[in-house]
Amino acid sequence: MSKNKYVIGNWKMNGDLSSANLAQEIESGVIGLNLQNTKVGICPPYTLIGYIQSKLIGGNLLSGAQDCHFLSNGAHTGDISAIMLSQIGVQIVLVGHSERRADHGESNEIVNKKAQAALDNGLLPIICVGETLEQRESGAAISTVLGQIENSIPKAAEAEKIIIAYEPVWAIGTGKVAGPDDILEMHAAIRKLLKTKFENADAIPLLYGGSVNASNAASILHLANVDGALVGGASLKSADFLAIISAAENK
Ligand code: PGA
Repeated sequence: MSKNKYVIGNWKMNGDLSSANLAQEIESGVIGLNLQNTKVGICPPYTLIGYIQSKLIGGNLLSGAQDCHFLSNGAHTGDISAIMLSQIGVQIVLVGHSERRADHGESNEIVNKKAQAALDNGLLPIICVGETLEQRESGAAISTVLGQIENSIPKAAEAEKIIIAYEPVWAIGTGKVAGPDDILEMHAAIRKLLKTKFENADAIPLLYGGSVNASNAASILHLANVDGALVGGASLKSADFLAIISAAENK
């Protein structure tokens, strides 16, 4: 039996009430594809999550969020906690996206606590890692990413309850995709490290992200150790996103 693949749309700070139409198009496309091996999720901005859920049939798309605080409540103006997300039916949450790490100074330790908060509240955390261009050019890509993995995954996490997304920072939103050899090398290195930490490391889906689109999805998703994609820009167009989903399903 093949392992589930995941295609997750990260809408970032995009969308408005009319984006419920986009979500509905994605949902009906997913129903039409009759997926057997692929799970699909969307992570809209917080303000749209409940509204979009109310406009969907439900059960076909994982309801996602883009971040959560590591505490349950308190004096943290502007933050949203994992329990708040779980109470409205959110199922997956991104933690440690490179834009959070860069814009909000999130360290591996904070990401680790966020992932733990997600687990504590029954959410599936998608733990994001990735090197900058400087780190890649100085030959530190693999050590950087393995260090992020080492420190961002909660100690008590179970393999079946986490997802990892490798997103080279220089490939996000730039149209530049990591080459197949770079993706293969990084995903193999991540899997090897996971095997030292988890008995069942093969159960952990390893997603690739960074300028995945309808044209390049099949070639990326066919690579060994690539179990799906985290998709930004192309998740905002239903036809493109559905083409990526088909590519994952037909891997
Ligand atoms: P992109 O974003 O597909 O627009 O490059 C990916 C991401 O940031 O998750």
